[in-house]
Amino acid sequence: MRTPLVAGNWKMNGSRESVKELINGVVEGAKSLNGVEVAVCPSTIHIADVVAVTAGSNVAVGSQDACTELKGAFTGETSIDMIKDMGCQYAIIGHSERRTLYGESDEIVAEKFSVVKKSGVTPIFCIGETLEERESGITEEVCARQIDAVFTAEGDNAFEGSVIAYEPVWAIGTGKTASPEQAQSVHAFIRQHIAKRNADVAEKVQILYGGSMNPANAKELIGQTDIDGGLIGGASLKADDFMAVCQAGQ
Ligand code: 13P
Repeated sequence: MRTPLVAGNWKMNGSRESVKELINGVVEGAKSLNGVEVAVCPSTIHIADVVAVTAGSNVAVGSQDACTELKGAFTGETSIDMIKDMGCQYAIIGHSERRTLYGESDEIVAEKFSVVKKSGVTPIFCIGETLEERESGITEEVCARQIDAVFTAEGDNAFEGSVIAYEPVWAIGTGKTASPEQAQSVHAFIRQHIAKRNADVAEKVQILYGGSMNPANAKELIGQTDIDGGLIGGASLKADDFMAVCQAGQ
């Protein structure tokens, strides 16, 4: 059985003060959780403050991105070694906001996946179609293409020890959630697609759903056979809402 994972993607939100309050609330709330893994992904600048609070707790910390390079003259970038050194266990890679707003191609995302995996940090690899792609009936094709870029870089066992997040772009920050049936159908496709390369890895890999998941819809979504938790944006910015989603994952 796969243990569900609920991860908060805080995106570019919060101040030192609000982040401390939020992470204290999450750590406190997570004490009573059972059978669900919890992670938060703050802005890079807040990682140190968050790790200071999560130390010794059952809340893991992740970054929202990582550079393709490990060190050197890359102004403004953060390497996965730095992220790991700060105490992160996860790194989100290929979020649709990185892909669309910062021009990250499937190949760049795959390169990032490789450096993260090699570092021992767990990649949370994001994929998903735009509204236009869904309406053109190419959702599966798009997800397969994004996944295949990683297989090309890393081979058949690419997703061993990693996490996948299916985030339909049209559901992110819009309040429009994929229905449990729509999400389950794509999650099942993703698992089958991975199984063509390695059935054992496909069975074990956690596939999270992301896109307007909240306390009201989390239980039904996470209750689907192939949905192993959530990657939560807006609803992860309030400790009570985030904990309610985590509870739904138990
Ligand atoms: P929302 O939960 O705000 O839709 O964001 C989802 C997301 O992008 C998580 O990575």
